Amino acid sequence: MATDKLVLVCALVMASCTPQNKEGKSQPFGKTPAGEPVELFTLTNSKGMRADIMTYGGILVSLKVPDRSGKPADVVLGFDTLDGYQSNPPPYFGALIGRYGNRIGGGRFTLNGTEYKLAQNNGPNHLHGGLRGFDKVMWKARTPDAQNLELTYVSKDGEEGYPGNLTATVTYTLTDNNELKLDYRATTDKDTVLNLTNHSYFNLAGQGEGDILSHQIMINADRFTPVDSGLIPTGELRSVEGTPFDFRHPKAIGERIDAPDAQIILGKGYDHNFVLNRSGNGPELAAKVMDPKSGRMMEVLTTEPGVQFYTGNFLDGSIRGKGGKVYGRRFGLCLETQHFPDSPNKPNFPSVVLKPGAQYQTTTVYKFSSNASQ
Ligand code: GLA
Repeated sequence: MATDKLVLVCALVMASCTPQNKEGKSQPFGKTPAGEPVELFTLTNSKGMRADIMTYGGILVSLKVPDRSGKPADVVLGFDTLDGYQSNPPPYFGALIGRYGNRIGGGRFTLNGTEYKLAQNNGPNHLHGGLRGFDKVMWKARTPDAQNLELTYVSKDGEEGYPGNLTATVTYTLTDNNELKLDYRATTDKDTVLNLTNHSYFNLAGQGEGDILSHQIMINADRFTPVDSGLIPTGELRSVEGTPFDFRHPKAIGERIDAPDAQIILGKGYDHNFVLNRSGNGPELAAKVMDPKSGRMMEVLTTEPGVQFYTGNFLDGSIRGKGGKVYGRRFGLCLETQHFPDSPNKPNFPSVVLKPGAQYQTTTVYKFSSNASQ
C-alpha cells in the first residue's frame, strides 16, 4: 500500500515536471476513399477562439468566434465528417484552392509559347485547380505549437495540366488578437502560374443560422472585373460608382443583390472579383463584414490585388452541413483573396507567373472582433 502511494506520488511529481506538450492537438478525422488517414488539428488562443483544420484539402472545418456577449459560434460552413467533403459538385467549403483559384477561360493558357490544357470542369472553363485541385489532396502537417499549423503539398510537374514541380506551404496561425492568418509560400522548378486562396464560407451569425443578406459589408475597391456569361472576366476594370458593386461604404449585402443589373444577373448575385485599393506591399484592408444581430465583425487584410466576393448563390438547400443544418441559398459568403480570374490569358492583369528561384509569398488575415449592441 505504502509502495503504491509512493508510486502514485512519484508519477504525479513527474507529470507536473514533464514539459507541457506545446504541439497543436490533433485527432483522427476518418479516411479518404483511397484509405489515407486524415488528421484534424485544433488551434486555440487565449481569447477563446478555436480553429479546426484537417490535412485533407487543408480545409478549415470549424472556426469558433465569440459574439458581443462572449458567446462562441462556429462561423464557417462545413461538414461533421470527412464524407461530406466528397460531395459533387464540390462547394469547396473551407478548402485551400490551387493551383489556380477561380476560373481560367477555355481551360487553357499559353506560357513561353507553349499551350497548356487544363480540365474543363466548369462548362468550357477551368475552375479552382481542376478535377483534383489542392482542396482534394493530402497535406503534410507540422505543428510547432498550439497556435500554428504548417501544411505542405508537393504538386508534380504536369499535375492537373500545370507545368513545374511545385512545393506549396500554407501556414495557419491563430493569434491572441483573434486573427486567423494564412501565409502562402511556394517554389517551382519550371515557369508556371499560381494563384492560391482559401474558400471558407462565413456566416457571422453562426453556420446554418439563416442567410447572410443582413450582414453589412465594406469592400475597399473602386473597381471590379466584369464577367461574361461563363463568369470569365472581360478584361475591363470597371468603376463601382453608381453600381450594386459599390461597397466603399458599408451596406447590407441584400440591399442590391437582386438588382436588375447585367453583372448581378450573370453572377446570380455577387460572384465577382474586386480590384483592391492598395498603397503598399504589406497586408492591407480588403473588406469588413458585420452581423448586426450577434455583433460579430470580420476584417480581411491581404497582400493580394483582388478578392472574389461570392454570396453562396449556388447553395440551394440540398446540402446538410454541421449539426444537420440545411444550407440554403446565400447562407454563407466567401471573400477569396486572390489574383484576378483568368489572369494567365489577360496580359493587362497583374502577372501570376512564378519562376524557378523566386518565392511565391502572400498573406491573408481574417481578424475578428465585436461591436456593442445597437
Ligand atoms: C467561386 C466561384 C463561384 C463558385 C464557387 C464554388 O467562388 O466564383 O462561381 O464556383 O467558387 O461553388
